[in-house]
Amino acid sequence: MSTHLDPCVLVLFGATGDLTRRKLTPALYALHCDGHLPAGFQVVAYGRRDKDDTSFRTDLLAHMQQFAPKAEMSKWDEFASQCFYVRGEFDVQNDYDVLAARLADLDEKAGRQRNRLMYLAIPPEQYESVVGNLGAAGLTKSEGTWTRVIIEKPFGYDLQTSRHLNDSLMTWLSEDQIYRIDHYLGKETVQNILVFRFANEIFEPLWNHKYIENVQITVAEQIGVEGRGNFFDQTGMTRDVLQNHALQILSLIAMEPPARLDANAIRDEKVKAIRSIRPVAHDEVPHMSVRGQYAGYRSEPGVDPHSSTETYAALKLHVDNWRWGGIPFYVRCAKSMPRRVTEVAVQFRAVPQVLFAKMNRSDVRPNMLVIRVQPDEGIHLEIGAKEPGPTMALRPVNLDFTYGSAFPNAPITDAYERLLLDAIRGDASLFARGDEVEAAWKLLTPILEAWEKHPADVMPYFTATWGPEKADSLLEHGAKWREP
Ligand code: BG6
Repeated sequence: MSTHLDPCVLVLFGATGDLTRRKLTPALYALHCDGHLPAGFQVVAYGRRDKDDTSFRTDLLAHMQQFAPKAEMSKWDEFASQCFYVRGEFDVQNDYDVLAARLADLDEKAGRQRNRLMYLAIPPEQYESVVGNLGAAGLTKSEGTWTRVIIEKPFGYDLQTSRHLNDSLMTWLSEDQIYRIDHYLGKETVQNILVFRFANEIFEPLWNHKYIENVQITVAEQIGVEGRGNFFDQTGMTRDVLQNHALQILSLIAMEPPARLDANAIRDEKVKAIRSIRPVAHDEVPHMSVRGQYAGYRSEPGVDPHSSTETYAALKLHVDNWRWGGIPFYVRCAKSMPRRVTEVAVQFRAVPQVLFAKMNRSDVRPNMLVIRVQPDEGIHLEIGAKEPGPTMALRPVNLDFTYGSAFPNAPITDAYERLLLDAIRGDASLFARGDEVEAAWKLLTPILEAWEKHPADVMPYFTATWGPEKADSLLEHGAKWREP
């Protein structure tokens, strides 16, 4: 594969941060071992700490030992020898000239064109100044070569700040240079939603309000804030996960078929789906949302002891278009749940109660399709089956597809591997476009504002339960939250 890719350099900002340790170093090394990186690929980290190439390489090795201890390391020295370090302050313009000179020198020695992928794995408040300084140093230009910038979430804090950030990035970059990462889009199972819907003729005719009763999207984590109390308390579950990961999944479930499988055609349809969601007016917020906070959250390090930040958020949304009119989409994202599970449950309508009218209604269960994003990745379709025996008794059974059994020799790789590779090859399909992010904030900002006025509405729940009981009241027509 590497022969088709332009030789390039990854310029890494935030090389000592958590994301680089946990995800980027292991992902880059795995791509190197699999021969997926372009020939002559190099990494240049830029950071404040006093390091040189040798001590930076020692750090990278420590990341591997801590977060990918089982990796086969026979190609490590080869990989590490192509990693370099430039010391500089994020806000000192002259330091970027030093970076530019080092990049030019490495390019020249490698006989490489100036193709650069900048990765901003840094706190969001530094995005603007880093991009501004890169721009002023002439490092954002793409003239016959390419420069792309990967930006981590959170992309803004609300509608106004995300617009401001988009506008200020546009001073130096064009939209097609910006790769806003949402690692959920790099997950195989999330990509498979498009394939499931559009490469299989049998489901699409049923994929609408006539056959579907409701859709439930769950992003549940078993862990609490795990030492990230400071960050999380300023952010909350809605900004951290619902605005991005959950709404991305929703848009893939709700979107119309794109005209082509290219980045803009796909994202046009996704953004249309998000824009079709009915805005939630301030006075409707109490009936359309439930917030919760797990017991003990306020004693977590870094968390305000009087915090009203939500660790559980559930919303009822309506995608007001021809396909989905009248169908509720229930979305819940939470920490400290009984288990880690991300899934989409599509609840189909019940059959007419004619043939099996004498049976207990609960025995004739409507079909349910469950797309299991993680763990136990796969898809399950619940159907009614006759129980063996002399009487007509029905029981729900599953038609199952699991990745583990269907593709035993192709383990699911980390989302960051796929996303890094896509950014290197210039495919932005699995990255969020500016208008998509703004549409998500436009929907959520009024809800967040309404919540802020009623901090006492955050309901407590016990760790390892499925959240506040009040969340049941969001569901219509006797529907229940699925217990995954
Ligand atoms: C991140 C959030 O984007 O996603 C974290 O900031 C969250 O708070 C994580 O834990 C969940 O990702 P995954 O891939 O483990 O489901």
